[in-house]
Amino acid sequence: MKTLEIQPLTALRVPEIVALDEICIGGLWTAEAYLREIDSPRSSLLALYLDDDQSQINRKIIGMACLWAIMEEAHITLLGVHPDYRGRGLGQLLLLTLLENAIARQLEWATLEVNVKNSRAIELYQKFGFQVVGTRKGYYQPAGDDALVLWLKGIQQPQFKLNLSQWQKNISDRLSQNHYHLN
Ligand SMILES: CC(C)(COP(=O)(O)OP(=O)(O)OC[C@H]1O[C@@H](n2cnc3c(N)ncnc32)[C@H](O)[C@@H]1OP(=O)(O)O)[C@@H](O)C(=O)NCCC(=O)NCCS
Repeated sequence: MKTLEIQPLTALRVPEIVALDEICIGGLWTAEAYLREIDSPRSSLLALYLDDDQSQINRKIIGMACLWAIMEEAHITLLGVHPDYRGRGLGQLLLLTLLENAIARQLEWATLEVNVKNSRAIELYQKFGFQVVGTRKGYYQPAGDDALVLWLKGIQQPQFKLNLSQWQKNISDRLSQNHYHLN
């Protein structure tokens, strides 16, 4: 059994997350930027740890996610899963955990920008009810790709919280089938 755990990132693990960022996103943030996120009370920076042998010694980081709390808005700034571990529901697990975090912070809605060509991520966000509300032309440089602006309203609504618990159950079942245990 492989154990998964999502915890706030600590300063000691920053070099590891910078390496993962490079692999997942091509180097979005520097070590200094990650340290600033750790220190910021408005930021929730989460790391997904995998423990292959229960020893805690070989615990490695295979995913990461971050949100900024701005007024009543959860701005999702980072979501990534190591390529070796994609397609197993871990991206959904991280997004779900961010949304639970946003609810706990009493935020009302969530938003993010995503590359119009990133169909995998777009599909993931749409599964959770995010809707396209606009486009930012040439947002991603130097390629000049457009960004879609996605919004998710009503995260404090009872119906949304019910949906979240159903998604949580589905994701847990899927992880169990893949011999993962979530702490
Ligand atoms: C986006 C990302 C986080 C998804 O992680 P993941 O662990 O593969 O996600 P999941 O396994 O939970 O899959 C989530 C959903 O994405 C969609 N998806 C997964 N693989 C896909 C593929 N090859 N093609 C299209 N859609 C796909 C599916 O809807 C999937 O749900 P399903 O498995 O129930 O059908 C990951 O691909 C990644 O790190 N990409 C690089 C960084 C990035 O683009 N981040 C988002 C920036 S906004």
